[in-house]
Amino acid sequence: MPASILVGAQWGDEGKGKITDLISDKFTYVVRYQGGNNAGHTVITPKYKLALHLIPSGIMYPTITPVIGNGCVIDPKVLLGEMDTLEGEGISCERLKVSGNAHIIMPYHRDLDGANERRLGNNLIGTTRRGIGPAYQDKDSRMGLRMQDMLDKGIFRDKVEAALQEKNDILSKVYGLPTYTVDQICDEYFQYADRLAPYIVDTTTLLHEADAAGANILFEGAQGTMLDVDFGTYPFVTSSNCTAGGAITGSGVSMRSITEILGIMKAYITRVGSGPFPTECIDDPAGDLLCEVGHEYGVTTGRKRRCGWFDGVVAKYAVQVNGLTDIALTKLDVLSAVDTVKVCVAYDCDGTVYRTVPQNQTAMHHAKPIYEELPGWKQDITMCRSFSELPREAKDYVEFIEDLAGAPISIIAVGASREQTIIRHR
Ligand code: GDP
Ligand code: IMO
Ligand code: MG
Repeated sequence: MPASILVGAQWGDEGKGKITDLISDKFTYVVRYQGGNNAGHTVITPKYKLALHLIPSGIMYPTITPVIGNGCVIDPKVLLGEMDTLEGEGISCERLKVSGNAHIIMPYHRDLDGANERRLGNNLIGTTRRGIGPAYQDKDSRMGLRMQDMLDKGIFRDKVEAALQEKNDILSKVYGLPTYTVDQICDEYFQYADRLAPYIVDTTTLLHEADAAGANILFEGAQGTMLDVDFGTYPFVTSSNCTAGGAITGSGVSMRSITEILGIMKAYITRVGSGPFPTECIDDPAGDLLCEVGHEYGVTTGRKRRCGWFDGVVAKYAVQVNGLTDIALTKLDVLSAVDTVKVCVAYDCDGTVYRTVPQNQTAMHHAKPIYEELPGWKQDITMCRSFSELPREAKDYVEFIEDLAGAPISIIAVGASREQTIIRHR
């Protein structure tokens, strides 16, 4: 005790990596609880610029034990590659702990992710094609392989054999793709197993013991609330619970240990992949401006992110479904580029006004934002280190969206590096 959860409050890429790194020094464990290497979290310190996909952003601190929890899906090749990169930079991964119950992304998961997207044609989800959805599908249908299976090569081989009986049929008969042999997969994955075995532990017991001993635990969410498989814009979502509840099921730590839930919101919004995005700037030149000034290109896939104005309806929803105690508002500096700042306060869905996210998919697809316009500040704020140093218009903007969202904005980021941050009332 106490444990804190950090979640993305929009469609991902809100700056979770930066804020996790910023607050990590108060914690001794930083835990990823869902998702896999679909995530791309940027951490910039005076010494390093890192893009992390699987390893928790707390890895930078030698006092922290980074944990990949049971709710994650792990591509072992990617994990080892990331560990090698970090070690190459002089950052030790010795302390890393990986849950034996986390599921493994297999080569056929990646193939099926790509094949499914091709099959969907124009209706594609725009996944990262990292095999995330198919791996979670196998978890739910109880035919997945878990990290603990890597510790017993006989069991691993038997499970691969059982899985291939179905997967090879789907690959060849449904999609006309090449199949796999058991040896082919085992030869590759046994090498990963040899290297990863020392890191695979019972992370649930580890965290229970840490919790009981009074350690501070931080849960680092991946993706964002609107990509959550239950609360997001289904089916244009990822395949896990990115919202705060996922931290409980994805780690085994009791919800009674959670004392703080911090939502990360960008001062505008971006989205990668398909799906509804009411405040997207489609014919509004501000979209390209935000993209260029904010360098809005995906960390994982390099795709150009769709850009739009801050959505107060999404913000309020994120406060509610996550139970946010605080908000960290990032990239406020990027809005210095625009003359007027628009904020969506409600949706008009075919004549009906919504102040909450409509559950009906068609309504969400038809949602037209109702905007309030606020004056911009048109000046560099990247050197501001306290709220009082911000221009009046920027302060008004922060207070406006704080009221709209219904939770206090306790951190404001005005640049990508660690020190470009304003701490308000933490
Ligand atoms: P994450 O997936 O939520 O960790 O976010 P990403 O790392 O994918 O994307 C956020 C991007 O914004 C990264 O390039 C960060 O370095 C950058 N960033 C984070 N906070 C700020 C900020 O306050 N201002 C600016 N200009 N960039 C920021
Ligand atoms: P971080 O943690 C932004 C999106 C994909 C796609 C949908 C499903 O960096 O915020 P998937 O590969 O997960 O099956 O793709 O989810 N997506 C993300 N968008 N940031 C992410 O992670 C994302 N992870 C997945 O673009 O629309
Ligand atoms: Mg990202």
